[in-house]
Parts: sequence; C-alpha cells; structure tokens
Amino acid sequence: MTPKDWVEGDGSIVPAANDDERETIEIELLLEGIHRLYGYDFRNYALPSLKRRIFHHIHAENLQTISGLQEKVLHDRACFDRLVLNLSIPVTEMFRDPSLFKMFREKVIPILRTYPYIRIWHAGCSTGEEVYSMAIMLHEEGLYDKARIYATDMNDRSLQQAKEGVYGIERMQLYTKNYLEAGGTQSFSEYYTARYNSVMFHPFLRKNIIFAEHNLATDRSFNEFNVIFCRNVMIYFNDELRNHVHGLFHESLSHFGVLVLGSKESIQFTDYSHCYEPLDRNEKVYRKIK
Ligand SMILES: C[S@@+](CC[C@H](N)C(=O)[O-])C[C@H]1O[C@@H](n2cnc3c(N)ncnc32)[C@H](O)[C@@H]1O
Repeated sequence: MTPKDWVEGDGSIVPAANDDERETIEIELLLEGIHRLYGYDFRNYALPSLKRRIFHHIHAENLQTISGLQEKVLHDRACFDRLVLNLSIPVTEMFRDPSLFKMFREKVIPILRTYPYIRIWHAGCSTGEEVYSMAIMLHEEGLYDKARIYATDMNDRSLQQAKEGVYGIERMQLYTKNYLEAGGTQSFSEYYTARYNSVMFHPFLRKNIIFAEHNLATDRSFNEFNVIFCRNVMIYFNDELRNHVHGLFHESLSHFGVLVLGSKESIQFTDYSHCYEPLDRNEKVYRKIK
C-alpha cells in the first residue's frame, strides 16, 4: 500500500491512480470535450503519438497541465484550431517515396488506360503535394483529361494551401530529385512559376482536382473510385479507427479498384485483408477482389 492508496470502509484497498492513468483520463476528457463541442473525433487516435503531440501543444501554449489545455481549448476557438493543426501532422512532399510513383506509372497506369473515366481519391492529402504529383503523372501519361481527383483532408488550413498550390522554393531541389526517380519525363521546373521565395504550380494541373473537407473518422463515403490513396494517415489511428476507415474505403472502391497505403502501413491484420490482393507488396499497393 502506498500513502496515496485509499482504504474503503470494509477494509479493502483502492490503489491510487498512477501518473499514467491520470494522464490517460485527462486526455480522454479533453478528447470527449473536443468531440462534443467541435465535432472533431480524435478519440480513436493511437495514444502514444497523441500524448506526445498534446504535451508539445501544452508547452507551446505556455500551459502546465492537460486540464489547463482542456479549459483553454473549450473556451477559445483559436486555441482549438492551433491544436488541430498540431494533431494533424501535415508533413508531406511531392513524389514522396518515388519508387511507389514509379511502380504506379508502370503497373497501375496501364490498367487505368483501359477505363473511359478515372476517379481518384487522395484521403488525408495535407497541403496537396501528393495530389499535384498525381496530376503531373496523369498529364504525362495522357490521362489527365479523363480523370477527376478528389483531394480531401480534415484540416481546412492545409486544404487552403493545397488549393493555392504555392510551396517554398527551397523544397524544389528535393521534389525535382523525387520526380526524376519516380520516372518523370519532362523538366520538372516546367510545372511551376517561381516568385521570390515560393513557387506556384500551374493552374492547368488543378483543373480536374476537387478539394474538400472530409474527416475519415466521422464522414461517410461520397463517391465510387478506381483508386484511393491514403498514405501516412492511418499510422496515427488505433485498430478500431483503422478498421472503420478500411470499411469506408472498401465501400468506396469499385471492383478491382486500387488502394495505396503508406510505406509503414499494410492491409494485413485489418478486417478487410481478405478483400484485397497485393499488386505490389513492397509498395503497399492492393487491388480489391471482393
Ligand atoms: C502525414 S500527412 C500525410 C499526407 C500525404 N498523404 C502524404 O503521405 O504525404 C497526414 C494527413 O492526414 C490528415 N488527417 C489526420 N486525421 C484525419 C482524419 N480523421 N480525416 C482526414 N484527414 C486526416 C492530416 O490532417 C494530415 O494532413
């Protein structure tokens, strides 16, 4: 028995909550409050990374405790918006994992070529770099005009940047390298105009992209797609939410539709693993078979 344990009237001992338990309870209360007040549902995000982010945010807001953050978030919309930005981890790049885009060009594009019309969903598109990469690839393969790309994210600030297609010029060296490794056939700089410290991607790339807010935890399927990209999003979810989102994708993919996950993700060990066959196991690209 520790000094903080509680002795009940019948003599039984109720152990004191340890710090971990206390933290978990406070986090659950914070997430419950956010869900009820703002409708954003982080309750099934994986706890370890969520905790790290929340403590980082407490520090950034000059606060001491999770309860202090809860009070501020529930009374101050701007503080909540900053927290969403922090929890959403909008890290991305163009032609991220170039070998995946190369494989897509070689193995998936020939399949898409046989379709009269192509619908692609980028779920959790962040600031849009992955979407412009897809637009460039479809353009080079002569498929862009018959494609519609749906680019969604829960974070409206990221989406705003995605719509503008403006990125820091210092990123272009890496993006050019990725583009070439991904099998790009043109000069990458033809796709943007540089202005001072930033570049703007050409509007023709945006012509067939529809940007929209969509939350994978709370929103429904909204169309049928030939391809769904959802990379580096579900790594932040727990098993329950991951299965829920796979249900959404399964419902939203056409027969033989292609699902593309992030390099550290897999369809294995989800409730839907038997519904897909790998098109390329290393690149985490799957085809729906039932
Ligand atoms: C690390 S970024 C991945 C961006 C891009 N797919 C890539 O791989 O480069 C994760 C994105 O998922 C989004 N996200 C996280 N939870 C989400 C949810 N419940 N619904 C929709 N988007 C979500 C975040 O806002 C963030 O933009």
